Amino acid sequence: MKRIFLIILFISCRLAYAGEGMWLPLFLKSINEAEMKSMGMKISAEDIYSINKGSLKDAVCQFGGGCTGEIISSQGLLLTNHHCGYSYIQGHSNLEHNYLKEGFWAKDKNEELPCSGLSIMLISRMEDVTSQVLQGVTPAMSESERKIQTDKNIVDIQKTIRKENYEDVFIRSFYNGNQFFAFVTVTYKDIRLVGTPPESIGKFGADTDNWIWPRHTGDFSIFRIYAGPDNLPATYSTSNKPYTPKHFLPVSMDGVAEGDFTMVFGFPGRTTEYLTEEGVRQITEEQNPVRIELRDRTLKIMDKYMRTSERTKLQYSARYASIANAWKKWIGENQGIKQTHGLEKKHEQDLEFQKRVDNNPAFAEYRNIINNLSALYKELRTFAVARDYYAEGFQRNVDLYNCYARVKKLQDVFEGRGEQAFDNQRIQMAKDAAILFKDIDLKIEKEIFASLLEKVVNGVDAPQRVPYMMDKMKLYHHDYKTYTNDLYAQSMLTNPDSLVVLNTLNHNEWLQKVKADPVWNFFEEMNYFIQYGIQKRATELEDQISTLRRIHMEALMKVFPERRFYPDANSTLRVTYGKVQGSTPRDGICYQAQTWLDGVMEKYVPGDYEFDVHPKLIRLYKARDYGDYGVDGKMPLAFIASNHTTGGNSGSPAIDANGNLIGLNFDRVWEGTMSDINYDPDLCRNIMVDARYILFIIDKFAGAGHLVAEMKLVHPKAKSKGKSKKK
Ligand code: ARG
Ligand code: ASP
Repeated sequence: MKRIFLIILFISCRLAYAGEGMWLPLFLKSINEAEMKSMGMKISAEDIYSINKGSLKDAVCQFGGGCTGEIISSQGLLLTNHHCGYSYIQGHSNLEHNYLKEGFWAKDKNEELPCSGLSIMLISRMEDVTSQVLQGVTPAMSESERKIQTDKNIVDIQKTIRKENYEDVFIRSFYNGNQFFAFVTVTYKDIRLVGTPPESIGKFGADTDNWIWPRHTGDFSIFRIYAGPDNLPATYSTSNKPYTPKHFLPVSMDGVAEGDFTMVFGFPGRTTEYLTEEGVRQITEEQNPVRIELRDRTLKIMDKYMRTSERTKLQYSARYASIANAWKKWIGENQGIKQTHGLEKKHEQDLEFQKRVDNNPAFAEYRNIINNLSALYKELRTFAVARDYYAEGFQRNVDLYNCYARVKKLQDVFEGRGEQAFDNQRIQMAKDAAILFKDIDLKIEKEIFASLLEKVVNGVDAPQRVPYMMDKMKLYHHDYKTYTNDLYAQSMLTNPDSLVVLNTLNHNEWLQKVKADPVWNFFEEMNYFIQYGIQKRATELEDQISTLRRIHMEALMKVFPERRFYPDANSTLRVTYGKVQGSTPRDGICYQAQTWLDGVMEKYVPGDYEFDVHPKLIRLYKARDYGDYGVDGKMPLAFIASNHTTGGNSGSPAIDANGNLIGLNFDRVWEGTMSDINYDPDLCRNIMVDARYILFIIDKFAGAGHLVAEMKLVHPKAKSKGKSKKK
């Protein structure tokens, strides 16, 4: 008995299925289809991506530029994450209707809320344009000559490529500049908010649970795409009609089991999987620690005040969340690289590459790549680290830079477009002044500024220190607090009232005051130094690095013909596939693949801003009132699988072997966040909300059953077992 138990445990936690890769839909047939079928997929590559018929790709869109969404009804109903829809939900929220807090559900189409500035992009088709882009490029060209030539070719292709007048086209580089693909797209701009659960469901666990498994977040929201009478993109109009898609995803009621095939279809943002050892070292040993440490300081200070004041919590929670998101990811990434011996693995790979290259005269031109890259990374280090210090120290974590940047922009407007334009924008800025400072607490800002200033001044290598900053520190005997207090007190850019006064002056007086302002001078001097003391050399080095990385990529593909190479993520449409499975992130810990509503109740902290639970959800839980969506008296909530995802995949559909929606991707497990640099099949898991939980929340919790009625619910497993189909 014990042995059987152990074996089951071993299987459910450890067995690694191939999950690595973010593949181009265009090449699924030739590269991936056979493997996908062997893993259980029942549909064909043509069902996933086709230009001749409606296919899965017609149901997948880029949402708001940075996320993914999918169409789930014949009337353009669109599903994405709560955290992707967040700013639009926030935009419709006010004190009377706080949709973030209460949730929102349109009873019918008339109640749906237009979201200005939101658009979604569908892909009509993609096309290999490598030979056209590289036309006229010669090996003798310098990097900048090459860029001029390829940019020119890209403009030509954009003009001549076959497309309809409502379509757009963009061209992206793949495999570090070795291949180029054109994407013909259609962008819809009338997108309306249809429904969202309250934050206590959509953001349950907030930052504490972010990147964490086991997870219990119902991270979804619902929109609808509207089109003109011809079903084509149109600007917002009450006469627009719901968009009729070429394809929409049926929603599976059958859920998933350990070992089931899954794929995720979406727009992953950025990965760097083919770095050499030195490239990985630069990120994990040089850059991440600096970024982590500065954000650590920032978050500790914010948290201290957020805990003691409701007002501060409201002011800072969005900024806290966005600073904490990458911070936590970098920490996980570094731990993951360490745990999986990522640097040693890269070292071995570099050695093997070198060995094969040295032993084959045909590869003679590649002999020095690794060494040359290493030398460049080493030289770049001091600049890259300094850049991180200044960005994290003064541009990212304190708000002061924002105000400087706005004033700077005004000055640019004056110089570029004259006094009238300057005046217009100034009036706007004076009007905005109060809003600009609405979420700013100067006490907190100053504490962060002083703390980060100390870190930057002591952390940056001597030649990379800004002379102006160092002079000031000398003057103040490195008393960071007093300097910060004086800086804020003496500047006109640190409070709304003086900003309003400043904006009543004529341009000459305005400029005089601005040029005498200590905050202005601090950032002017810093930016000047960054531009000439750091960026000038860094750009030269980075250009050389990108040339070598292109050649290295080309070499890898020739030197390792037995390996399959997928291109790094670049915000284009990709398919990744794997299996539903748990993992063993550390000795003695076993992650199961599925979580349940019970876990919400385990984590419940009444009144807490991260772990409070809505009374109605508690009632449904206590009554086990799950409708058709529960399983044996339990409500499935989230699950993990070995799909290779990254930022940008949020909101991507998780799809079963038959092409049905089984979940909604929104995160990764912390121990696997190094997947952006080095995917590990044992540790890397993506996190999805179970489709049945989404249906349950819409139907039973929100009473918006009319939305579920609009979807196509399917029972693929019941069918394959020969049971009769429900509903
Ligand atoms: N970690 C997820 C991603 O990178 C979710 C982020 C949103 N949630 C949060 N608590 N910040 O986007
Ligand atoms: N949470 C990420 C996103 O918003 C997804 C991830 O990094 O796994 O795209």
